[in-house]
Amino acid sequence: MNILVTGGAGFIGSNFIRYMLERYPDDRMVNLDKLTYAGNLENLKDVAAHPRYQFVHGDICDAAMVQASLKRNEIDIVVHFAAESHVDRSIMGASECVRTNVLGTSVLLEAAKESKLTKFIHVSTDEVYGSLGSEGRFSESTPLHPNSPYAASKASADLLVLAYHHTFGLPVVVTRCSNNYGPYQFPEKFIPLMIVNALNDKPLPVYGDGSNVRDWIHVLDHCAAIDTVLHTGRIGSVYNIGGNSERKNLDVAKRILQSLAKPESLLAFVKDRPGHDRRYAMDSSKIEDELRWRPRMSFEEGLVETISWYQQHADWWQRIVNGEYKDYYKAMYEGR
Ligand code: NAD
Ligand code: DAU
Repeated sequence: MNILVTGGAGFIGSNFIRYMLERYPDDRMVNLDKLTYAGNLENLKDVAAHPRYQFVHGDICDAAMVQASLKRNEIDIVVHFAAESHVDRSIMGASECVRTNVLGTSVLLEAAKESKLTKFIHVSTDEVYGSLGSEGRFSESTPLHPNSPYAASKASADLLVLAYHHTFGLPVVVTRCSNNYGPYQFPEKFIPLMIVNALNDKPLPVYGDGSNVRDWIHVLDHCAAIDTVLHTGRIGSVYNIGGNSERKNLDVAKRILQSLAKPESLLAFVKDRPGHDRRYAMDSSKIEDELRWRPRMSFEEGLVETISWYQQHADWWQRIVNGEYKDYYKAMYEGR
């Protein structure tokens, strides 16, 4: 099969490409990525010369380029990761987020409609459901109630994808996953940011009182879920993907400090994120019962492994934090 991965130079996309190349000797992976601040070809340098891997530098909003890529590469399946993925950046300014996540998805769908795809997998998020109180979990039938510009843009894209199935019979599947962590995650996100700051003996900025809850899943468990959906997911369906690992942010930050033998005095409670969703928790029973997928990595084991990856790949994240990231960090955290 010829598989087009959009956003393959990002965190999850790069892990997915490597995962698929290792497992499927007959599949070709084409990575279409704009290389925004979050896209990094270093994430894939070990497979850059792989005979079944190809990189295409392009923007998913560019209709002619998207159409040509699907045609030229005789694409059978699209796995759509490309997005502006950070909630805080979407709050700082939503236009790029709306452009890529909504317009970009619609451009892809139009091109997909004219091609002979067997599946279009739209990689979405639990954030489309909004926020939970202390009880309950999101199921696939929970009404969409996105709260941030990022979440609203992803929910919009989900609706477009499902509309293209209903109206044009496009063979789509939507996956909605909880918070990923693992190697190659850009250090603007909570877990790598906490690790990198702890390693640098810098304050760990915890929003509000730190009692917001996220359901953490190791990125390779997410990759395995997408692999499962790619091979056996029912066309027209939505699948929730969760890690069964709900943790308070403060507990995660403390665990990171403990693992690195750093003092809790590094914790810094800062002004909360506007509109901050309180709690996410996923009911993944549909994918577990129907497709027999389950998360395998325990959070505690995965976190230790991830911390050690960041310790061993200081050159990777130092190049990032010493670049334009410095300006972002200043704008986001200085005086907060
Ligand atoms: P990321 O920010 O690490 O990577 C995004 C990638 O998309 C980058 O390589 C970037 O260059 C590329 N990209 C951005 N705009 C583009 C455009 N216009 N054209 C082509 N490429 C473009 O993101 P991630 O954390 O790997 O997330 C990937 C997908 O998974 C996103 O759709 C996100 O909404 C979804 N998701 C993420 C998580 C998570 O916890 N990280 C959880 C659930 C769902
Ligand atoms: O739930 C899935 C989503 O998870 C994905 O769709 C998004 O792409 C991904 O970015 C992530 O969104 P979150 O907003 O949950 O992740 P983030 O890493 O930004 O924050 C996780 C939690 O940590 C959240 O409650 C906010 C908090 N936080 C975050 C940062 C960056 C802090 O307390 N301090 C910080 O500096």
